[in-house]
Amino acid sequence: MAGQSPRSISIQAGIAVGLLTMVAVGVALWPDNIGQNWWLPPLSGTIVGAFCYLLVFRQLGFYIQDRVRVIYKTIRRFKGSSSNLNLDMNNDIVEQVNRDVMSWAESQIDEITNLRETDTFRKEFIGNLAHELKTPIFNIQGFILTLLEGGMDDPEINRKFLLKAAKNVERMSGLLEDLDVITKMEAGNLDIELVSFDLLDIIRETIESLEPKAKRNNIDLSVIRGMDASKVMVKGDAAKLVQVLTNLIVNSINYGKEGGRTEVRYYDADDTVLVEVADSGIGIREEDLPRVFERFYRVDKSRSRHAGGSGLGLAICKHIIETHGQTINVRSTYGEGSTFSFTLEKA
Ligand SMILES: Nc1ncnc2c1ncn2[C@@H]1O[C@H](COP(=O)(O)OP(=O)(O)O)[C@@H](O)[C@H]1O
Ligand SMILES: [Mg+2]
Repeated sequence: MAGQSPRSISIQAGIAVGLLTMVAVGVALWPDNIGQNWWLPPLSGTIVGAFCYLLVFRQLGFYIQDRVRVIYKTIRRFKGSSSNLNLDMNNDIVEQVNRDVMSWAESQIDEITNLRETDTFRKEFIGNLAHELKTPIFNIQGFILTLLEGGMDDPEINRKFLLKAAKNVERMSGLLEDLDVITKMEAGNLDIELVSFDLLDIIRETIESLEPKAKRNNIDLSVIRGMDASKVMVKGDAAKLVQVLTNLIVNSINYGKEGGRTEVRYYDADDTVLVEVADSGIGIREEDLPRVFERFYRVDKSRSRHAGGSGLGLAICKHIIETHGQTINVRSTYGEGSTFSFTLEKA
């Protein structure tokens, strides 16, 4: 049965009662009194039928409005103002309510799934964080205890252990700094100051500051010009983009090979400039590629721990670039090297 509307039900009831009345009145008058009174059965049928129709229609309306209002109150579609509950009596109301309830239920399910995901995410984050902080703190504790238990008196040992402790403190403060950046970003409090500046300036600046680290690791740092210009003006937050370049270049050194090279390249790409940081390092396996931008994700835990990263570097890069409305990507061949690339809007 294709959905009955309250109106069609009332009409059917009216017609049925009207016909019955007509027949009843006809039978009552039959056979002697029907002659002159032939109009009585149809007239009474019509009047009673119409009355029945109106009555049923009205009562049905009250009944449905009453019940349906409760349902809509529950699904908060009308948030208290139930007076503007407007039901079309010419429609299949139950069907309509059914549809509204279904879509409400779906949105509820979506919301719950979302909350659950956020919760898992938060739990994971805290777990990772605790784990990251534990290592340096245990190390520092160990060094201090060794010093207290007599190491202090040995000039050789005390210097060595203090240096080790200092290194771990440095690592911890680096982690906290990254954490500070990432929480600010996720709270939406990362202020990006868009100004026009010369990309070549910040590339030069970053390479200069990382040159000593690259030398220590015997890695050659160079710039490849992909476009002919003495200035490459882009729009962005220069300080934040220095951070992105630094993170990428430091990674290329940390995950590089002895005697390898890192190239910073820039290309003209319509309205944007494409910047690449390419290395001839250890590379990233295909299955790890989509995950390297995740917070705390590391391909090789032991190596990264040795290198002293927080696992947050790429997550920060991605956040900064995306806050600029741009994208960051990676391609890599395992064992041969990786290339991280991002775009910047031209000024
Ligand atoms: N240039 C690269 N070559 C190979 N692996 C890389 C490179 N950059 C990043 N990775 C991998 O991605 C992981 C995440 O990088 P990142 O977020 O900077 O964290 P971290 O450097 O602190 O470990 C690294 O631990 C490393 O396994
Ligand atoms: Mg890193």
